[in-house]
Amino acid sequence: MNLTSDEEKLLSGEGGEGLQKAMEIIVSIGDINDAPRLIPVERVQISGVSYKTIGDAGLEFLQDLVGLGAKTSVYSTLNPAGIDLEQKNSDVPARFVEKQGEILRAYESLGATPSCTCTPYLAGNKPGFGEHIAFAESSAVAYANSALGARTNRESAITALASAITGKTPLYGLHLDENRGPTLKVNVNEQVKSAFDYSALGYYIGKHFDETPIFKGIQPGVEGLKALSAGLATGKVSLFHIEGVTPNTVGDVSSLETFEYTGAERKTVTEDLNTCDDPDILCIGCPHCTLAEIKQVIDANPKKEVWVYTSRAVQKQLGEKIKNPNIRLISDTCMVVQPLEEMGIGSLGTNSTKCAYYTRNLSGLDVKFDNMENLLKK
Ligand code: F3S
Repeated sequence: MNLTSDEEKLLSGEGGEGLQKAMEIIVSIGDINDAPRLIPVERVQISGVSYKTIGDAGLEFLQDLVGLGAKTSVYSTLNPAGIDLEQKNSDVPARFVEKQGEILRAYESLGATPSCTCTPYLAGNKPGFGEHIAFAESSAVAYANSALGARTNRESAITALASAITGKTPLYGLHLDENRGPTLKVNVNEQVKSAFDYSALGYYIGKHFDETPIFKGIQPGVEGLKALSAGLATGKVSLFHIEGVTPNTVGDVSSLETFEYTGAERKTVTEDLNTCDDPDILCIGCPHCTLAEIKQVIDANPKKEVWVYTSRAVQKQLGEKIKNPNIRLISDTCMVVQPLEEMGIGSLGTNSTKCAYYTRNLSGLDVKFDNMENLLKK
């Protein structure tokens, strides 16, 4: 890879050991991917924030970087942590709370903004069309690339952090025009309206295709785009197009292979993800809820306990106090990166394929996957 003389100096340690380490990471990723050079990024979303996902090894890595004097050089926000920072978290093991605090202090010493959400684009870190960025949260990667027309590869926790420190990323993959066009047409012949429907559609396509789909027959708003992004990203898809909705140019798609999505495909997703009928709690907000989704839960006046996850930024926009004691509004964390299995929860109901997939596979919980109306009715 060709580096500028300034980049060479940083790589040789002239900017300090922390910056040198971050440059080494970025340059090695660029070499592996045959990137010709580095490009500047305007913003970063860092994953690897919960103690549940990074553990002691991740905490030590962050503390080492702090010790080496590393600092973020561009606006960088954080993915959900393992706890709600403004609640007592008395149901979370004390050691977990303590370690989580150390992780967040390390990130803040590095200069990251502790927004602790997977929807940075709803909480002040929203890229513009054509912006080169480095996002690590997979659902936000798909949303930023597709709904907003920004450009990012699916970064890991470490490469996103290295980009946050250097302000750079290697030029390869989805930063390049030639890798952004659609490679599969998906005709949606099933009614797809709710977040549950979009989540199932995304999950099915992401699980069965390693392609860049262009969808025909759907008109999602923000909630649908968010759910579709997370569903697709639970598989391998980090960029998609929707005729008449997403802003990227797509060119001639007439010769692409076409896939027909019908009720039969949707049914396989539901069958695949359901393992129980009467979950302990309901979890809404994967990815984190918009204001409209929170209001939908409040209006349904649920009789079962519902944990509603959102960003601190969106929670602050909610002018009303929630009167229904069954609704627990939670920020800074999510049901997947919270240690739910250590908090006495054995099963949950969700309208999100990503939540269903990961709470089953990472936390060993049973799952009821259904649309929000049905879940809240019970
Ligand atoms: Fe967000 Fe957690 Fe789902 S990070 S996308 S709520 S798994």
